[in-house]
Amino acid sequence: MSSSLASMAYIGATILFILSLGGLSNPETARRGNLFGIIGMAVAVLATVFGPRVTPAGIPWIVGALVVGAAVGLIAARKVQMTQMPELVALMHSLVGLAACLVGFASYVDTSIAFEGAEKAIHEVEIYVGILIGAITFSGSIIAFGKLSARIGGKPVLLPGRHWLNLAGLLVVIWFGRVFLHAETMQGGMTALIVMTVIALLFGVHMVMAIGGADMPVVVSMLNSYSGWAAAATGFMLSNDLLIVVGALVGSSGAILSYIMCRAMNRNFISVIAGGFGSGGGAAPAAAGGAQPAGEVTPISAAETAEMLREAKNVVIVPGYGMAVAQAQHTVYEITRLLREKGVNVRFGIHPVAGRMPGHMNVLLAEAKVPYDIVMEMDEINDDFPDTDVAMVIGANDIVNPAAQDDPASPIAGMPVLEVWKAHHSIVMKRSMASGYAGVDNPLFYKENNRMLFGDAKKMLDEVLAALRA
Ligand code: TAP
Repeated sequence: MSSSLASMAYIGATILFILSLGGLSNPETARRGNLFGIIGMAVAVLATVFGPRVTPAGIPWIVGALVVGAAVGLIAARKVQMTQMPELVALMHSLVGLAACLVGFASYVDTSIAFEGAEKAIHEVEIYVGILIGAITFSGSIIAFGKLSARIGGKPVLLPGRHWLNLAGLLVVIWFGRVFLHAETMQGGMTALIVMTVIALLFGVHMVMAIGGADMPVVVSMLNSYSGWAAAATGFMLSNDLLIVVGALVGSSGAILSYIMCRAMNRNFISVIAGGFGSGGGAAPAAAGGAQPAGEVTPISAAETAEMLREAKNVVIVPGYGMAVAQAQHTVYEITRLLREKGVNVRFGIHPVAGRMPGHMNVLLAEAKVPYDIVMEMDEINDDFPDTDVAMVIGANDIVNPAAQDDPASPIAGMPVLEVWKAHHSIVMKRSMASGYAGVDNPLFYKENNRMLFGDAKKMLDEVLAALRA
């Protein structure tokens, strides 16, 4: 393929990626957006493999790597549960970071292209910055994977003087950057690169370890952004325009998503980027922070729940992580359909960080064919709870915790929540009194107008549905 044809293909792929991002911003156009992304990636890969920079001798290597990568990807995608998706995404981000590091080291030892003067300095800055971002992304994503899959505890690990440690690390990295740029020999430059890589890896671990469990959504989107910048840095090292553009798209959209997440959780964007966020003040370890709620919980049966729903005029359903675990979305849809047929106004209230990944609940409800027009954002529905007869909470906990508003010492203090306790009645469906992701007790369960429907969400909803049909 000639270089002008490859450039045309790259421009086409870039346009498809932009259309893909646009499509993914709305549930109704998400499928089309996904398709644009797939086509764009296929065009990009073909244009690269058959482009002017790959020699025929390299093709078997590329095809071999493609086959291995595609096989691993296919098996992982088939095996992974929807609830494990955030862990998988974190793991994939780590691979982008690792790739940036490996490409950086390979570019440095590759002597086939001789750079001179300013070009050499620019190339070396690209390598240094690329490996720096890649190493932070790699180790940070591995820790995020550990936290999201509960292999590592969710509590923030706070080293004494951690901000000073980070500052010292930054100064050492800047110093070794200077050493690297002035190195006379490859060995001298390599030593500086390795020292910086070790510091960057440690910084990635430190940054994510210091973040409290409930604040992980922001970390996921932030690492998404970092992985984009790592890809863009790789693009600079390889002089690949498409990789630069795509990396910048992922980096900036991840940054925007992080900003939206921060606003949803009432957190400060700058302190997230600096690391160690969510660990001061309110976000102390769960056991230490927040008052313990007192009072009695009132259980309810599935038949009584069905009775309450049947008599209600306005119902708001608040789904959370437990609905995803139980895979209860299809039964939720059946109940919704039945109640709507009986004239009950049923709507859904979606918290921006419900579940374990952005848009988690929207994806599940769309899969179950719940109409989009009755699925409301938190801000759209919060004022309606006082006029709601029954707020039904399905496997959600942190996102409906009144302590976020009432208890300044709570680890989730300040996080906006769905105010289900303002409804005439709330029913919380979960298996036990266990806490949610943030590890905080929930005073909602003890409120006078609240009832607890204990059990697996799918099983209990099946019983509610059967009672409604009876
Ligand atoms: P959580 O606070 O984690 O609560 C989920 C509840 O579901 C648990 O208390 C659990 O109680 C219940 N549950 C689990 N399996 C169940 C089943 N089979 N049937 C019925 N109930 C079940 O979830 P949430 O309210 O959706 O809040 C999300 C939390 O995750 C927030 O703290 C958020 O910060 C964090 N987070 C979010 C994201 C994103 S991007 N959305 C990413 C990482 C972390 P039982 O064990 O008693 O059943």
